[in-house]
Amino acid sequence: MLLQCKIVPHFMWIVLLLSAASSQHIPSADDGQQFREKSEALLIMSRLHRMEAQILDQELRLVNAADEIVSLKKQIQQLGQQPVVLSATHEKVIAFSPRTCQEALDSGLPEYKTSGMYWIDPDGLGIGDGAIYVFCDMTTGTTAVGHDSESTISIPKCGADPGCYSRPIVYPNTTIRQLRALAEISFQCYQSIQVNCVGAPFTDEGLGVDYAWWNDINGDVRNFWSGDDETAHTCQCGIDGNCIRTDLKCNCDANVAVSLSDIGQVTLKRILPVTQLNFGKISYTGGSHTLGKLQCAGKSNAVDVMPMSCLDLWRHGYNLKGFYPIRKDTKIQFVYCDFTLGQNVVQTEIGYVDVKTEPIEFYVQSTTNFTAAIADQRIEYNTFKLLRGTAMDYQTGLFTAPKNGTYVFAFSGLDLPGSNELLINVYKNDDKILIKELIGSGGPVGGTANHGTVAIPFVLRLTLGDTIRVYIGTASGTLYSDPKRPMTHFTGFLLEEDIFP
Ligand SMILES: *[C@@H]1O[C@H](CO)[C@@H](O)[C@H](O)[C@H]1NC(C)=O
Ligand SMILES: *[C@@H]1O[C@H](CO)[C@@H](O)[C@H](O)[C@H]1NC(C)=O
Ligand SMILES: *[C@@H]1O[C@H](CO)[C@@H](O)[C@H](O)[C@H]1NC(C)=O
Repeated sequence: MLLQCKIVPHFMWIVLLLSAASSQHIPSADDGQQFREKSEALLIMSRLHRMEAQILDQELRLVNAADEIVSLKKQIQQLGQQPVVLSATHEKVIAFSPRTCQEALDSGLPEYKTSGMYWIDPDGLGIGDGAIYVFCDMTTGTTAVGHDSESTISIPKCGADPGCYSRPIVYPNTTIRQLRALAEISFQCYQSIQVNCVGAPFTDEGLGVDYAWWNDINGDVRNFWSGDDETAHTCQCGIDGNCIRTDLKCNCDANVAVSLSDIGQVTLKRILPVTQLNFGKISYTGGSHTLGKLQCAGKSNAVDVMPMSCLDLWRHGYNLKGFYPIRKDTKIQFVYCDFTLGQNVVQTEIGYVDVKTEPIEFYVQSTTNFTAAIADQRIEYNTFKLLRGTAMDYQTGLFTAPKNGTYVFAFSGLDLPGSNELLINVYKNDDKILIKELIGSGGPVGGTANHGTVAIPFVLRLTLGDTIRVYIGTASGTLYSDPKRPMTHFTGFLLEEDIFP
């Protein structure tokens, strides 16, 4: 239809030009008038045609636009049917939620390059409390949890009573549970405390009175102001042995009317952070306290070990309840872990997993009469039904344990009637004189006309390199066998392997 529209006006244009040309004749006065009229008509016609062409052009654009809409609609439909594919960087952001600033730094992601405030989720993404907002020092990977008492705060005069001044410390943007989790997965946590005092002793050791103390994450009372020894009242000068009074553990304990100070850092991560500061016996003004942020750095040593408990798994970042294999002694154990309570994970032991690094199984036979040339002759075998692994060298009858573990063996045979008495001995480490050990013996006793049988089943714990071999103990004793009816059998297999040393 479009093509037709385009052709028609061009055709008409040519016809008009032709008719204008053919109507030319000798000019007259009338002719002048006529010529003007004709040229005006031609002008109008040409304008008309230009407009017509413009309309056609617009029409063409409309059709193109309609085509484009159809194609876009089709694309949208296809998008609706296909799964939405996110770009690689988008996926990373969704999947990665650091538990500590150290993890954020270790991720190498560009969004964790510079120090600043970040969301982290120490107790695990999707369980427990929501993410917390902390300061990350990205030069060291240190997580710093701020509080409402970081500036230097004056201690007012409040009298002679112990703890007559108290200041609870509030950690906004976080929860106790998250702080416990942070400490658990960090290598170390610490918090600095500086106290300026005029008089105002922390402790009067003579009287056994604590005028000052702080409360830990559990609310428990603490009177050590530096280090990690929760049993001793001390400040940093007490640890360094350079307090104002050498017989005391804190400068402030000197209790003199001059300005002194104690500066320390509590490093016992299990009980941090400080949740309340308490001071007493304040008879002078001029005292103050400055409490640093809770800082946690590094990765707990337990994070890089092979998991030996649900707690280890939690430290590794697992937080979905379920069955997990862990290491237990020399075996792999199956446990049920419930991480709902974060690091207070509930572990239920299910049983051990029977894992072997390789199959060790054999069943060998002797299908001929086998007579001992000497007393204590090794039994050799001439065929096998099953040989998995290289532990059994059936032609020499030597079994060498390739793994630490528990092995099951069974030997059985038949005596040749009328021959010498048959005595079978099983030796462990037969070729090592000092540790050679008789494991067991058996056999029909005394000469008899009947086929006496011998059967020695045994189960042993062997360490790598231990050997097992079966012997005929009596000279000229004969094991009776036949290719059609094999009667000398020796079987063995690894029952349980020690997966770990
Ligand atoms: C708590 O978060 C707000 C922003 O949500 C921030 O301005 C403030 O500094 C944070 N407080 C501390 C103590 O980190
Ligand atoms: C084993 O010895 C017995 C008795 O001497 C004999 O009858 C038998 O044929 C021997 N078997 C083989 C396989 O040689
Ligand atoms: C095997 O057991 C021995 C002795 O108990 C032990 O010293 C050794 O480390 C164990 N070796 C392996 C690979 O488990």
